[in-house]
Amino acid sequence: MSAETLTITDNRTGKQYDVPIENGTIKAMDLRQIKTAEDDFGLMTYDPAFMNTASCKSRITFIDGDKGILEYRGYPIDQLAEQSSYLEVAYLLLHGELPNETQLREWTWNITHHTFINENIKKVIDGFHYNAHPMGMFEATLGALSTFYPDAKDIFNVECRRKQIHRLIAKVPTIAAFAFRHRIGMQYSYPDNDLSYEGNFLNMMFKTTESKYEPDPVLEHALTVLFILHADHEQNCSTNAMRSIGSAQTDPFSALGGAAAALYGPLHGGANEMVLRMLKEIGSVDKVPDYVKRVKAGEFRLMGFGHRVYKNYDPRARIIKQVAYEVFEVTGKDPLLDIALELERIALEDEYFVKRKLYPNVDFYSGIIYQAMSFPLDMFPVLFAIPRTSGWLAQWVELLEDSDQKIARPRQVYLGYRTRDYVPLANRELPETQSAGA
Ligand code: CMC
Repeated sequence: MSAETLTITDNRTGKQYDVPIENGTIKAMDLRQIKTAEDDFGLMTYDPAFMNTASCKSRITFIDGDKGILEYRGYPIDQLAEQSSYLEVAYLLLHGELPNETQLREWTWNITHHTFINENIKKVIDGFHYNAHPMGMFEATLGALSTFYPDAKDIFNVECRRKQIHRLIAKVPTIAAFAFRHRIGMQYSYPDNDLSYEGNFLNMMFKTTESKYEPDPVLEHALTVLFILHADHEQNCSTNAMRSIGSAQTDPFSALGGAAAALYGPLHGGANEMVLRMLKEIGSVDKVPDYVKRVKAGEFRLMGFGHRVYKNYDPRARIIKQVAYEVFEVTGKDPLLDIALELERIALEDEYFVKRKLYPNVDFYSGIIYQAMSFPLDMFPVLFAIPRTSGWLAQWVELLEDSDQKIARPRQVYLGYRTRDYVPLANRELPETQSAGA
């Protein structure tokens, strides 16, 4: 058998180095020994945006981007979406195995009995402006929650950690729904423990005068599938934020607030909102070819298309497309669907998209379903954050239990000035190269 090593020749010195290969990777720290002189810092890798750097070993989520495969703890996403419940999947992500009946009952009880939030948290939400974006309220309220649970700082205490996990998974739908109700000026609808996780969320969102809210089973099921599909996606931008903040041993409420902030961006979880805005802007099917032309000319990106990892159809988008039709049976078809289908058809045949392997991602169809279910546009990123909470927490626990991990602290390639003397104000001229944005 060939040796599991990489031999590197440094042409600057002529020296050779043997570096071990493990799990298809070399350790960046093994490059540090490659020096041109004794006082040389040693070789580093340069990898902005982590294009080819594994930041951790993980056993949670597997993605094969070329083949379009997604698995949680080894279970294919389509089997989970078809047969499982969101809380069962959350348990799987966090514990590594599907729960048996007793474990699921206990887990569901624990989540169901932590859904209420302290009444003072309502005052935090009340303090927001009437038109505050719900994702901003969501992030800020998570940060505020850390002040209500100072015990959450005891992150290496497994029992304590478990409690925070119950609290977080249970409370994120409540915070999300309360943010929505504040936005539209309606009284808060409190959790109903008789309902499922998803049904209760619909109750807190949409209950009005009825004494008992009864969720539509098709819409409740659609939410289950959407929640399962969004639960984890290995080392994406927000998960990386969760791990990075968590590596400083920050409490999970604060870390989750940071992860949610990363998710908010239009290139990540904010894309579903942007897709709907884009479809509305296009307006009708006949305008699609012209819009695609402008995308190809580099004017803007086609939102809901492309992915850093998937160079094939995103398996989640395939499942979501199916769910969309089920939802439309209840809600009636959204005319934006025709624009989306035409956009997909043209893009999948167009050389620009084919060459770059740009396919619809999870966000392309999810927004159309959310809109059909009466969720307003600015709730879309929040709807992503609710189920992703279990994934973020699973990744956070894995981080804390991984002895290879330390505080995240990337290196840089410094290209700026070196030591120079201070210039008094009167003697300063603005150099032409100075960036206005600096
Ligand atoms: N529309 C048009 N062109 C695109 C798009 C797009 N949506 N995405 C990538 N490209 C082009 C890009 O211009 C580049 O072309 P060229 O090689 O000529 O410069 C090439 O494809 C590679 O793009 P990239 O920016 O190097 O790819 P990336 O891996 O850095 O970006 C992405 C991945 C998801 C940020 C990007 O595809 C994108 O901006 N998509 C639109 C936003 C979106 O839908 N995001 C949701 C992602 S899935 C859910 C999630 O992660 O939360």
